[in-house]
Amino acid sequence: MRISSQKYGFLVLLIFPILWFIAPCHRPSLSVKYLSPQKKTHGIHKPQVMSTMRATVQQTLKVVKPIMVTKKPITGCKPAELPDQDLYRKILQDHEKFILKAPKPPSPNTTFVVFVIHSVNNTKVRKEIRETWLNPNESKVIRNGSAQYYFIVGKPRNPENLFESDVLYTNISEIYPNLVLKELIAYLWLVKHKKNGQMLKIDGKDTVANLDRLSSQVKWNEQKISCLLWDPVQPNRNICSPWYVPLKHYYKPVYPRYCGGPAYMIPIRQLKKLLSHASNHSALVVEDVFFTGVLAFKARVKRKNLGEIFRTYCPQRKAKTLKIFQRRAIACSKSKKMVTSVLSRHCYNRKRKEIWDLLKNGTCT
Ligand SMILES: *[C@@H]1O[C@H](CO)[C@@H](O)[C@H](O)[C@H]1NC(C)=O
Ligand SMILES: *[C@@H]1O[C@H](CO)[C@@H](O)[C@H](O)[C@H]1NC(C)=O
Ligand SMILES: *[C@@H]1O[C@H](CO)[C@@H](O)[C@H](O)[C@H]1NC(C)=O
Ligand SMILES: *[C@@H]1O[C@H](CO)[C@@H](O)[C@H](O)[C@H]1NC(C)=O
Ligand SMILES: *[C@@H]1O[C@H](CO)[C@@H](O)[C@H](O)[C@H]1NC(C)=O
Ligand SMILES: *[C@@H]1O[C@H](CO)[C@@H](O)[C@H](O)[C@H]1NC(C)=O
Ligand SMILES: *[C@@H]1O[C@H](CO)[C@@H](O)[C@H](O)[C@H]1NC(C)=O
Repeated sequence: MRISSQKYGFLVLLIFPILWFIAPCHRPSLSVKYLSPQKKTHGIHKPQVMSTMRATVQQTLKVVKPIMVTKKPITGCKPAELPDQDLYRKILQDHEKFILKAPKPPSPNTTFVVFVIHSVNNTKVRKEIRETWLNPNESKVIRNGSAQYYFIVGKPRNPENLFESDVLYTNISEIYPNLVLKELIAYLWLVKHKKNGQMLKIDGKDTVANLDRLSSQVKWNEQKISCLLWDPVQPNRNICSPWYVPLKHYYKPVYPRYCGGPAYMIPIRQLKKLLSHASNHSALVVEDVFFTGVLAFKARVKRKNLGEIFRTYCPQRKAKTLKIFQRRAIACSKSKKMVTSVLSRHCYNRKRKEIWDLLKNGTCT
């Protein structure tokens, strides 16, 4: 049922100024600041069992306050830009129109297709990533072809410069609300060319993965989405927030459970299934909620919480020394084997190379 914003208009006027002061309008996967209250309550330094982890997540979710709907932009803020729904429909009709240059599709033998979501200008960072966690000299599954990677980027300034062979160049301008569209194009391209295996989505700016370990933890024929799974949260109805979602695009009071945006793994067969529901929904700026929450829920694709493997939340933020960082960042099993395969840099403010070194040869003591 839709909430009539007129009917509640006066309430909004009354309540909004109060909420404006007390409500931090952040979502878990997109914001570092969001997690700061957790720092006060829960500092997780040690390897932990999943129940602790869930408790932490729930603690965190309590921070999200309901935010009322406003029709007019609040003075002093720029209303958030939303994904272009016309463009969204056009992509669903024919995604190939929006591909400037496609790389060679993955081999049928490949079991893990890695999509590194990136911005077209970031060639330096792409080089760094290719030299670290995607380096065939460092990763066995990249070397033997059981994992294959692609960078997904937007429209370059100079359309002549499409020379990187591992990049899928889309025709989408690189603004935040378009992220969901850029990913949509890549996902449609993938399901057209490959029927089975897993698609691992990684936020290339922030997140580092140990593919060798990860591919031993998630079976190639797993049919659930694997990720750090968040409990339902309320849509952000603050028109000034970059994560603002208007009622006309999503009217329910809460989102379904969804996977943290920095990294999630979707079985390609299930990806195809959930994309088949896309035309019945509006594209949401919160791409993680959209694909792994709204569409996965509609398509009845199951999700599996592997929060210790996908450590894309921040158990303890900035660690002063390398040693403290190394101890805090990873989860270990009882037999002192490292469990964590994916880490987000924003939690630790560490260099990509340092995160990779830890994921590669860090030890549990
Ligand atoms: C890029 O997208 C626009 C629509 O937004 C389309 O008209 C144009 O043909 C596309 N260009 C290429 C090269 O695909
Ligand atoms: C896939 O693997 C089979 C054997 O396992 C091999 O014969 C074939 O050449 C491989 N195909 C590609 C495209 O690598
Ligand atoms: C890429 O960088 C150039 C300047 O180096 C800038 O003018 C352009 O807007 C950037 N493009 C994107 C898509 O960020
Ligand atoms: C892998 O190692 C070889 C030999 O040492 C080297 O020539 C090559 O550049 C390395 N590849 C990468 C991506 O670092
Ligand atoms: C590549 O290596 C992984 C890890 O050892 C192994 O599980 C997989 O079967 C190998 N794939 C191929 C195609 O050799
Ligand atoms: C989309 O919505 C229409 C009309 O409500 C319905 O008939 C159709 O089955 C829906 N498609 C999917 C894939 O849910
Ligand atoms: C991991 O190995 C690299 C060399 O590949 C080394 O420079 C680094 O210090 C090692 N890191 C740890 C945490 O052992």
